[in-house]
Amino acid sequence: MNPALIDSAKAFVKSRLEGAESGHDWFHIERVWKMARVIRKMEKKGDILIIELAALLHDIADPKFNDAYHDRSADTAYDFLIAEGLNRDKAAQVKAIINHISFKGGIDPARIDTIEFKIVQDADRLDAMGAIGIARAFNYGGFKNRPIHDPEIPLQNYRSSKEYHASAAPTINHFYEKLLRLKDLMNTDSGRKIASERHRYMEQFLQQFFREWNFQPRND
Ligand code: ADP
Ligand code: NI
Repeated sequence: MNPALIDSAKAFVKSRLEGAESGHDWFHIERVWKMARVIRKMEKKGDILIIELAALLHDIADPKFNDAYHDRSADTAYDFLIAEGLNRDKAAQVKAIINHISFKGGIDPARIDTIEFKIVQDADRLDAMGAIGIARAFNYGGFKNRPIHDPEIPLQNYRSSKEYHASAAPTINHFYEKLLRLKDLMNTDSGRKIASERHRYMEQFLQQFFREWNFQPRND
């Protein structure tokens, strides 16, 4: 462990994410960082320094807020870690995790398979589920000026991450295109356990949403 490096990564992230929309702010990073530590404890394996650094730095240069689709977070993280004196091998491990962590419409031709990657990806995905996931989705939709729901707009199957991020579909569609799929994409048993409760909560939310959308007074 290297508490000084973790502290300076935290300070770096906080300063970089100032003013980011609230789905990707410091609190998202903090939740993912804490969740990654919880999952590692449950799994009882994984290099803690790599996990914590990847969790803290994974959204450092989100493409949605930099007008570029190529995710620069991995390079930014690598440069930061080298400047902080971390050895190249460890910095490269963190970079690889960040490079592959994003969902990108479900398309990742070259995924990596280390326990550190699996844990950090699960932690990030869990933050897109449950009550927080619902709040983040509608916040993101509002930020992008998208409707909550429009029954006329069908679900889409995105062929590239560019298409996925350019979509103007309503936020309810996002539940079917991404959020409800996350439960089956969990990498670890611990992640799966936490995901199943959050998944159920999203299903209940959608049931109630459509009950209200199609409101029928009871005739009793
Ligand atoms: P990832 O990095 O896993 O691809 P994103 O950066 O795309 O995730 O998404 C960050 C947050 O914004 C998540 O909570 C996600 O559910 C939400 N979000 C992303 N795209 C949309 C969308 N089209 N509609 C609503 N919410 C979205
Ligand atoms: Ni994230």
